[in-house]
Amino acid sequence: MEALMKRLCETYGPSGEEMEIRALIEEEIKDSVDRTFTDNLGNLFAVREGPAPALLLSAHMDEIGVIVTHIDEQGFVRIAPVGGVAPHLLPGQRLRFKSGAVGTVYHEKIKELRELDWTRIYLDLGAKNAAEVKKQVQIGDMACLEQPFVALNGRYLAKALDDRAGCAVLIETARRLAGVPLPQAVCFLFSVQEEVGLRGATTAAYSIQPGYGLAVDVTRAGDTPKAPLMEVSLGKGPAIKVKDNSVICSPKVRRLMMEAAAQHQIPYQLEVLERGGTDAGAIHLSRGGVPTGALSIPCRYIHTPSEMVDQADLDGAVQLLDILCRLNWSEEIAAQAI
Ligand code: CO
Ligand code: ZN
Repeated sequence: MEALMKRLCETYGPSGEEMEIRALIEEEIKDSVDRTFTDNLGNLFAVREGPAPALLLSAHMDEIGVIVTHIDEQGFVRIAPVGGVAPHLLPGQRLRFKSGAVGTVYHEKIKELRELDWTRIYLDLGAKNAAEVKKQVQIGDMACLEQPFVALNGRYLAKALDDRAGCAVLIETARRLAGVPLPQAVCFLFSVQEEVGLRGATTAAYSIQPGYGLAVDVTRAGDTPKAPLMEVSLGKGPAIKVKDNSVICSPKVRRLMMEAAAQHQIPYQLEVLERGGTDAGAIHLSRGGVPTGALSIPCRYIHTPSEMVDQADLDGAVQLLDILCRLNWSEEIAAQAI
């Protein structure tokens, strides 16, 4: 899984520009499913055929990035965020465009760090003037963080673990289930534009019309020095979401997940995320409503150039999803008390 994680994390794919990451994921998963297809927004679907209603598993393939807003005469490039990027994390960081062009971020003179907003930040591509920049970069071009993937002490450090970690978990689950008969259709969704508002999952859930939904994404960990209170740590197992700002997970789905984990001795944590959302937010509101849960990979330093996850949590997530896909959801959910 480490090699797969490296390929996924190092691939370019800010919201709306998921072409490269989509091609990579399709290549990685196509032999494990019955068919793959994309929709008008660029979502990638990888389907195991079977009886309806389908179980929809979603991980978003887009990552946070920036977009070019202005290029001055000297060739300095002004940028704005695509998704939740904090400007104070960028100075000294390198950004890479789809074309391969790379620049470094710095800022104008400031007295205090809190003056550091997007208007003070610029990107330097090493160009001598605007004309030289415009040979490589135009207004509206996007760039993502440029960081190598590193494995250390059973943990992974990389950009875009949000949510390539979820993508890796889905791919690995599909591989394990290849050739195994399933009681219902399972649709692996690699959604677009999650970071700008769960947009891909919105149209995907509408068109797939799933019976049940389950989003796989990262969540915050509260196990670092003086971190805001958060009952989730790295290495204690995947987190079964109770609530975030986009969804109150279906209690039936949540209990089904907890029971399956307990039965197979998979360690798990319970997650209440006070800010932020996931694809589950869009899926559960589709059409007449879809019973939806979410499985989260504990992650430190989310939306920074070096996010961190634990290998054991990824393994636990794959194990649990593998078990869940083999269950008959219509029967299991019907058997759950209220
Ligand atoms: Co995110
Ligand atoms: Zn995410």
